[in-house]
Amino acid sequence: MANLPTSLVLWLSLISYVYGVHATTQWPRGSSTRFYDFKVQTMRIRKLCNTKNIVAINGIFPGPVIYAQEDDRIIVKVTNETPFNTTIHWHGIRQKLSCWFDGPSYITQCPIQASQTFTYEFTLVNQKGTFFWHAHFSWLRATVYGAFVVYPKTGVPYPFKHPFEEHIIILGEHWNQDVVQLERSTVGSGGGPPVADAYTINGHPGPNYNCSKNDVYEINVVPGKTYLLRLIHAGLNSENFFAIANHKLTIVEADAEYTKPFTTDRVMLGPGQTLNILVTADQPTGKYSMAMGPYSSGQGVAFQNILAIAHFQYAGALTNSVSLPANELPSVSDNLAVKTVMDGLRSLYTSNVSKEIDTNLFITIGLNVQKCHSKTPKQNCRGINNGIMAASMNNISFIKPTISLLEAYYKNINGSYTEDFPGAPLKFYDFVNGAPNNIPNDTQSLNGTRVKVLEYGTRVQLILQNTGTVTTENHPIHLHGFSFYVVGYGSGNYNPKIANFNLVDPPYMNTIGVPVGGWTAVRFVADNPGVWFIHCHLDLHQSWGLGTAFIVKNGKGELETLPHPPADLPRC
Ligand code: C2O
Repeated sequence: MANLPTSLVLWLSLISYVYGVHATTQWPRGSSTRFYDFKVQTMRIRKLCNTKNIVAINGIFPGPVIYAQEDDRIIVKVTNETPFNTTIHWHGIRQKLSCWFDGPSYITQCPIQASQTFTYEFTLVNQKGTFFWHAHFSWLRATVYGAFVVYPKTGVPYPFKHPFEEHIIILGEHWNQDVVQLERSTVGSGGGPPVADAYTINGHPGPNYNCSKNDVYEINVVPGKTYLLRLIHAGLNSENFFAIANHKLTIVEADAEYTKPFTTDRVMLGPGQTLNILVTADQPTGKYSMAMGPYSSGQGVAFQNILAIAHFQYAGALTNSVSLPANELPSVSDNLAVKTVMDGLRSLYTSNVSKEIDTNLFITIGLNVQKCHSKTPKQNCRGINNGIMAASMNNISFIKPTISLLEAYYKNINGSYTEDFPGAPLKFYDFVNGAPNNIPNDTQSLNGTRVKVLEYGTRVQLILQNTGTVTTENHPIHLHGFSFYVVGYGSGNYNPKIANFNLVDPPYMNTIGVPVGGWTAVRFVADNPGVWFIHCHLDLHQSWGLGTAFIVKNGKGELETLPHPPADLPRC
C-alpha cells in the first residue's frame, strides 16, 4: 500500500474536517482524502518489434495504481496533455451522489479536450476490494487503464488468512495500430475489427509472440506462501481464461465484493470484471506459466489464439520454464468451464437482495446487421452479406448524443435523447433458436438515444436475454452507479415458470457475462440519482450500440438529491 506520510494524512484529514464544518451539505465526505495527479500524455512504446505512440497516464503503462481505504475520499486531477479527447471512469465505484464524476463520455460528461483539466472527486462509500480505472472515450481504454485497490478500514481483517503478499494482474489486449483510429475505421467499415496483435499480462505479451521473448511479466514467490492476486480484465474485445500451471486458484472476491472461497483450476473474466484469487506456492520449486487465453463463444467471431504468458517463479528455481500443460486452459469455446466458475460464485454473507420487485425489465442483447445505404459499399458495408454490423438492447442500437445525457437531463435541454426505451422487446419470439437470420433483411435494429427513467428507490429486476441473431455470444454487461445481485441465469430463453433463483447468497457484481444463448437475472435498488450507462463491456459492441442508460430521479431531501455539477465540468 502506498502509504502517505502520517503527518500528511493528519493534515489532509484536518483539511477535510475543517471543510466539513463549513460545508452545509451532508454528502459523503470520507474518512481521509487522497489526491492523485493524472497527466494524460502520449508515450512511445516498443512491443512485438513495433514502435508506436500510446496514450498513457504519467508516462506509466499500465497506469499508476490508486490505493485507498474503505470510505476514503478520492480526488484525481486529470490534465489532458494529448491532442485527443479523453475521460476517466472509475470502474465499479458506485459514485453515491457523485454521478458527475463517473466518467463515461457523452453520458455523464463531455470529453476532457486537449490541454483541459477536470478534477474527479468521489467517496468510496461502503466499498473495498479490487477496482480499476480506465479511459471511457473511443477505444482508448486499450492503453489508459490502471488498478484501483481499496483496503478495508484500519483494523478490519480480510475474511481469509492474510496473504504473504499481494500482486496486481491486469489482463489486456495490444494493437500495433492506433486504437482511436482503429475504432473509427472499424465503425466506418461496417465490418469487424482485426483481432488484437497480442494479449498482455500487466502490459507484457510473454514469449509466445514475435520479438517478445523477454517481454514477460514475472512474480517471484517463496515456497509454501500464499499470495493474493488481484485479477483485472481491462481488455477491449475479448473474454479470457486465466490459469497458473499446476496451481489451484481460490476465488475470494468478485467485482470487489467478498465471495465464499471457491477453488478451481482456471477462471474466466470478461472485460470489466475483477477477481481476487488466492494461490499457494505448494508445488515443487520451479518456474510456472501464468496463462491468458481466449474464450470465444460466438460463431464466426475472429479471435487471437496465441496465449499471453507470465511467470510464477519460485525462489531458487532454474531459469528453464515449465510450459503450461494443455489441460489447464479450456478450449476456446468451453462454455461449461465458464458456467462452472459462475456456479461457484456465492456472496460470502447472506444478502439483503430485495424479495419484492417494483419494475421488471426484460432486455434482449445481441447483434444485428443493417442494410447498406452507402454510395461506397465496398468501403462502408463490409459486414455479413454486405451489410453493416450493429448491436442492440431490445433491438435499439444506442447512439451516443453530442452533449452529455446527464447535462441534458439536469439542465432540461431538449432534443438529445428520448425517454422511451422499452421495458420489454417490441416482439417476443424464440430469441435463441428462432432468431431472424436472413441477413440483412430481417436483422436490422432501430437507431436511437432512448433511455429508461426510474423513480428514486425503485426495486428493479433486469432480465438480460441473449438473442441468436447473427450469432449467440457471451456478453459482459456492465452497469454504472450500482452493483447488482446476480439472482439467476440459465441457457435458452428465460422462462419465469422454471427459472431457478438464488435469493440467499447471490454474488453482488457490476459486470456479468450473460451466458451464450442464455439469460441472466439481476436485481438492484435505484437509490442513486443520476444517469447511469449500462452496456456491453466489449468495446466493439459498445461502439455498435449495445447499451442504454437509466435516469434515476432524485428522491426526497439532500441525501437523495444529485448535487450541482462541478464548475470545471468539461464542455463539448
Ligand atoms: Cu468499465 Cu462503462 O465501463
